[in-house]
Amino acid sequence: MNLYALLRPLLFSLDPETAHDVTLKALKAGYASRLTPLLYPVTACEAVNIMGLSFKNPVGLAAGLDKNGDYIDALAALGFGFIEIGTVTPRPQPGNPKPRLFRLPEHEAIINRMGFNNLGIDHLLEQVKHCKYNSILGINIGKNADTPIENATDDYLIGLRKAYAAASYVTLNISSPNTKNLRQLQQGDEIKKLISALKEEQLKLQQEHGKYVPLVLKIAPDLNHAEINHIAELLVEFAIDGVIATNTTIARTAISTHPLANETGGLSGAPVKDQATFVVQELAKHLNGRIPIIAAGGILNAADAQEKLHAGASLVQVYSGLIYRGPQLINDIVNSL
Ligand SMILES: Cc1cc2nc3c(=O)[nH]c(=O)nc-3n(C[C@H](O)[C@H](O)[C@H](O)COP(=O)(O)O)c2cc1C
Repeated sequence: MNLYALLRPLLFSLDPETAHDVTLKALKAGYASRLTPLLYPVTACEAVNIMGLSFKNPVGLAAGLDKNGDYIDALAALGFGFIEIGTVTPRPQPGNPKPRLFRLPEHEAIINRMGFNNLGIDHLLEQVKHCKYNSILGINIGKNADTPIENATDDYLIGLRKAYAAASYVTLNISSPNTKNLRQLQQGDEIKKLISALKEEQLKLQQEHGKYVPLVLKIAPDLNHAEINHIAELLVEFAIDGVIATNTTIARTAISTHPLANETGGLSGAPVKDQATFVVQELAKHLNGRIPIIAAGGILNAADAQEKLHAGASLVQVYSGLIYRGPQLINDIVNSL
């Protein structure tokens, strides 16, 4: 029996943000009452070793679902090989006005313009401290909306310093379309300035903490061949440890006739799949195995995950697929490997 298939119509009758909160609270209750392992038994599979870390399976939770780290144990119990929490900013912020989250079930897609609503990095670290989870935990960091874009590096440096001791790896999110000018950080000299400063800080922190925490860059699907090439060169030049491809898209081609097509924000789920795979393929070509790729974007079943792995990714992450297919998706992918 697929419990999620039964519950989905009920959840989809609620406003999307309410459904999100209800689902996470239910998961927490399921975890506390030890029901999760009965409903979603975890399949063992061969570990993936990249970035000096050992991932017990290659299926991760993508950033944005647990922005504050409030549900780490409950989510981990579903069988993920790794969990990424955040995006978190140095200071708490409310995000954009509601409504800011939309479902497009006809396309198995989501549009969001949440705008990094989060309780701040101190709250997140407090949750990490108290969780039982002891496997791979990525902390995804961003900048506050009211930090001028010229000072963005300062916010990422604060995030890196604070997250360093608690994280298995730290993701620099420079690809959300919902923070003004953020994606500009993927271009030209801006990206060079950012990653060189963060790399320098990472090496200082390594000395201070006596451990090396990999730095990962998360990029958008809306990049052309030359932009991807430029990013790949810089990843190698600055020895960035990994790259996540991709975030949500601002393109609407695949859903152009949908009544919600004109809602501002990032589109995820099935319509971003091909673009995300293209970015993974291009990165793989340029990187040639030198830096591992973590793929996200439109993974709704095991075949979609295989497509990303064949395109050159070492790991995958899911978000929208969980909303449309439920936690069974994780095991479906692991079983297919
Ligand atoms: C509601 C929502 C919120 C998101 N928030 C974040 C975020 O805070 N940080 C981030 O790096 N990505 C965020 N993402 C992007 C996802 O992590 C993922 O990269 C993207 O949705 C593509 O994967 P998918 O098609 O499986 O959803 C968010 C996605 C959604 C749907």
